[in-house]
Amino acid sequence: MDNEAFFRAGLDELKAAGNLRALPQVEHDGRYVSASGRRMLNLSSNDYLGIASEGLWQREFLAGLSGREFLLSSSSSRLLTGNFAVCSRLERLLACMFGREAALVFGSGYHMNAGILPAVADSRTLILADKLVHASLIDGIRLSAARCIRYRHQDYRQLETLLEKHHADFARIVIVTESVFSMDGDVAPLHRLVGLKKRYGAMLYVDEAHAVGVRGRTGLGVAEEQGCVQDIDFLCGTFGKALASVGAYVVCSRVMRDYLVNRMRTLIYTTALPPLNVAWTCHVAERLPDMGERRMRLERLSACLREALRERGLPCDSASHIVPMLVGDSRETVEKAEQMQRRGFYVLPVRPPTVPEGTSRLRFSLSAGITPDELKQLTEIL
Ligand SMILES: Cc1ncc(COP(=O)(O)O)c(C=O)c1O
Repeated sequence: MDNEAFFRAGLDELKAAGNLRALPQVEHDGRYVSASGRRMLNLSSNDYLGIASEGLWQREFLAGLSGREFLLSSSSSRLLTGNFAVCSRLERLLACMFGREAALVFGSGYHMNAGILPAVADSRTLILADKLVHASLIDGIRLSAARCIRYRHQDYRQLETLLEKHHADFARIVIVTESVFSMDGDVAPLHRLVGLKKRYGAMLYVDEAHAVGVRGRTGLGVAEEQGCVQDIDFLCGTFGKALASVGAYVVCSRVMRDYLVNRMRTLIYTTALPPLNVAWTCHVAERLPDMGERRMRLERLSACLREALRERGLPCDSASHIVPMLVGDSRETVEKAEQMQRRGFYVLPVRPPTVPEGTSRLRFSLSAGITPDELKQLTEIL
């Protein structure tokens, strides 16, 4: 088989299973998107607080910019000439907001997760990761020299058994989890993980990509909500979702930050974020504590959708603004997504390999800007 034929056969196989992907072409108009001549409410973005779809903040920000912050490229790695003052300002701001010693900013959540574990986990390290952690974390685990065991999703008894069995055999153990799980919307009991990590002298790595901005009294995430911001060794989050920007961060000890600066390849060998984007992230982050009203609105909408699914006898383990509707078969999921789109709701199918085989689903990703009327229409057509 020649090369082209080999890859064409691979695509055909994906198509037959209903798992072929293509890049959607959509036009954005605030909370709406248009595609194929249809205008639909966007239920597939991660703009959880509705900041990205509102022009007001962006206009205010652009009007207040100074010349130095307006740079559209950093033109270098942070270890060369790309470490602009605004980036250090953001890191000081994050460390102060979280009440921790240090913070470090990265180009994206993918860079963050693909880079931290390979930097800190050597061959004498054991990584214990939840079975459903994000692909970027899996890639980080694969790039590290550590041994890894994945425990069943949120099965902390199994996690404890593994800690008990292995803690004496390794120099270090790192427990890895998300707080709000990206495809299921359920929430990890971080305080329980903190208890386990303390009992067994392990380190704890938590990805709050889908929780920062949205959860906690001042928007710091589930760790704030559960009172354990100080107890998580690598408390990570991203700026590309609720914060309507781009990039990612870890808050940690000063020693861990210094270690990452020296060892983390996805920080060292890449161009730093443009100062303009970092300045925008500062602008949004400074306002996070005042966004309690939006967080409450989002929680009310989410509770309403979760309840509607349960009333229809559909399984729903979500405890957040990410509300999946399990379908199972990929082709059927694609059909259901198209039906929703025809009715004016832009919902996308989520299929393997993003989720396990046989668990294809529609993923409703809610935003504080959705009106109660729009949600009512949505629940009526479920
Ligand atoms: C849990 C989780 N972590 C990390 C990322 C990656 O973040 P980014 O989009 O900033 O690369 C995602 C994004 O999709 C995610 O869902």
